[in-house]
Amino acid sequence: MLWIERTLSFEVLPAALDRVRDTQLKEALASHLEETRRHVSRLEEAFRAAGAEPAAARSPALAGLHAQRDAQKVPEQTLGDLVDATAAVRVEHFELGLYDPLIELARTLDHDECASLLAENRKEEEKALERIGRIAARLRAELPR
Ligand SMILES: [Fe+2]
Repeated sequence: MLWIERTLSFEVLPAALDRVRDTQLKEALASHLEETRRHVSRLEEAFRAAGAEPAAARSPALAGLHAQRDAQKVPEQTLGDLVDATAAVRVEHFELGLYDPLIELARTLDHDECASLLAENRKEEEKALERIGRIAARLRAELPR
């Protein structure tokens, strides 16, 4: 999870911010970038709260999601923004699917502080998913037909 949040905050989100043109999408990604940076520190704190040193293992699944986005080569800007919005939605779903079992595990092991730090991150991921999901729906609706 730590590797994922670090990769999102140092590589994936800054690159997406450079690419997208839609103002709302740009704003949503910029604000989620700030949150994701906080997620990194919260995760490091969560490790320590559980009595462990922060460790970051590479995620082939995130690399795969990234490759999936890059495989969708699109020349037209509206569609390009939609591809990025859709890719962001996929990543948020992916992150929620990782946070849920981690929170359960921390609770099961009575690492309450760790669990609540993870839950704070999860809450922001869910809000980002809703916000970016709404933008993706609008971009889809705006496509010329
Ligand atoms: Fe996220």
